[in-house]
Amino acid sequence: MCGIVAYIGKKEAYPLIVDGLRKMEYRGYDSAGVALLDQELSIYKKKGKVQDLENFVLNSKIKPTGTIGMGHTRWATHGEPSDRNSHPHTSGNGDLALIHNGIIENYATLKDALIELGHTFKSDTDTEVLVHLIEEIQKKYDLPIEEAVKKSLEKVVGAYAIVVMDKKNPDLIIGARNSSPLVFGLGEDEFFLASDASPIIKYTNKVIYLEDEDVISIHRNGEYKISNLQNKTNNHQIKELDLKLEELEKGGFDHFMLKEIYQQPATIEQSMKGRLNASEGWAILGGMSQHINRISKSKRIIMMACGTSWHSALIGEYLFEEIARIPVEVEYASEFRYRNPIIYEDDFIIALSQSGETADTLAAIEIAKEKGAFVYGIVNVVGSSIARITDSGSYIHAGPEIGVASTKAFTSQLSVITLMALYLGHERGKISEGYYRQLLNELETVPRKVEQILKKNDHIKYIASEIKNASNALYLGRGYNFPVALEGALKLKEISYIHAEGYPAAEMKHGPIALIDMYMPVVVIATNKSAYEKIVSNIQEVKARKGIVIAIINEDDTMIREIADFFIEIPAIAEPLSPLLSVIPLQLLSYHIALMRGCNVDQPRNLAKSVTVE
Ligand code: M6R
Repeated sequence: MCGIVAYIGKKEAYPLIVDGLRKMEYRGYDSAGVALLDQELSIYKKKGKVQDLENFVLNSKIKPTGTIGMGHTRWATHGEPSDRNSHPHTSGNGDLALIHNGIIENYATLKDALIELGHTFKSDTDTEVLVHLIEEIQKKYDLPIEEAVKKSLEKVVGAYAIVVMDKKNPDLIIGARNSSPLVFGLGEDEFFLASDASPIIKYTNKVIYLEDEDVISIHRNGEYKISNLQNKTNNHQIKELDLKLEELEKGGFDHFMLKEIYQQPATIEQSMKGRLNASEGWAILGGMSQHINRISKSKRIIMMACGTSWHSALIGEYLFEEIARIPVEVEYASEFRYRNPIIYEDDFIIALSQSGETADTLAAIEIAKEKGAFVYGIVNVVGSSIARITDSGSYIHAGPEIGVASTKAFTSQLSVITLMALYLGHERGKISEGYYRQLLNELETVPRKVEQILKKNDHIKYIASEIKNASNALYLGRGYNFPVALEGALKLKEISYIHAEGYPAAEMKHGPIALIDMYMPVVVIATNKSAYEKIVSNIQEVKARKGIVIAIINEDDTMIREIADFFIEIPAIAEPLSPLLSVIPLQLLSYHIALMRGCNVDQPRNLAKSVTVE
């Protein structure tokens, strides 16, 4: 949440920073701001999108100049989205400017103490308190700015990634992080700091991922120093990123979400590359094979995640229990971290996260590690915090996911979890050779089957046009498709703002059925062969109350197509693999409904892609 980007070099900083902010905008879009240093410190900031900032700067009398600068795109925590709460914030004497991603939890105490000392504040933010604190400490102890930043951060409780600029030091930028990501990019005579590598990759692929409590000083001549709050110098390795610029663009699609939905045949294939060979009869993951003895002896699996990744974990529960016969608990990371959970050393903990930066998931991992458990990460963003703090793991290799609504990461997570369950089940001798081979073979067919489903886009768009005015929607599924119902409902509510709920189909009669009337669309995932008759009964119950049934059915279905108001056919597949297919029409349905309702599909209100605060 909140995107930050900073530049020091020989070029004009403003265009670079604005370009970077556009790439960071998925992290928050309540306001945007830039600080530039060219003898004077100039601040431009505006409520709204990066485009609003650009318009504001175009109309401003002062031309944005300077070869050192920083920019921020905000997801509001403390203080409403407004011009005055936008970052950068400045010190009382106007010498320092600061941008921040995170939350300063003890800001109120610090603010009271600073007010006592005569400081006055212009915003309601926690961030402004920090820049005043640095000013106060610098003055009180007569410290160089780097030292003042460090000493101030010692007093701070909370999460932060910050960049500080000082009018008196025009050849220096300072960055620091704790629990919020910050990447240092090393180009030719130019240097960058950013929340992730996307604004940097155009200029250099050489980066250093800063670690918690790191403070970095970057001088214009290329000298840089990373040390922690205890003044211990840290020599981090420079990493070379394998990220292509075109991966960060829409590539001819109207929205990132649509591009990402359509990428799924390729991304699912990519997630299984080198990990699955059906003809030779194996599934293996490097991150697991190194620890397979320990993992196979685990008595229990705990899967932790948030949002869509939590839905993947729920499907993981079905997969691991059926295929590997290990009991699984699925935890919301945000609950797990605060309830003194019981963890045994022989638990196998799996943390799932697209971004690899979700604050609650990170904290839950720390707790599990403190209790001696082995933690495995299933992560998309290479080099992210979760990828680095887990004991082992597998990347899902979905490529950058920029649409705030997660789509391709979900299916790639599922394919990786399926491979893990197959590998573990086979290793533990809990799955018959015949069934193992069948699932391996069918897994290889998934990308082509997803392609077939994507061809139904026009039909799905038509269904969207029929139900787009609904105020509520229900999603029902059984077994492996119950978590898909949850995911379908989440997709709809987060981008179209229609209230939607997912339920196990059989639970409908225990309450939600009271909601059904002629205005209620009920999306039923009805592909499960094992519970077909029961799903037919559920659909009949909805029809008897005049609900509008949209059924996801198999191509060979005979009965449901006759009773549903609308149906979408998908190819048949073994049940444990069915979520990989059944979620695709639900993603498209939400996309079209949101678009028809005039919603911003890629940047839905109040949301951000990377939830780095609690
Ligand atoms: O990056 P993560 O997978 O840890 O993110 C978890 C959730 O914030 C995320 O899935 C969120 O629910 C998405 N908006 C869902 O589309």
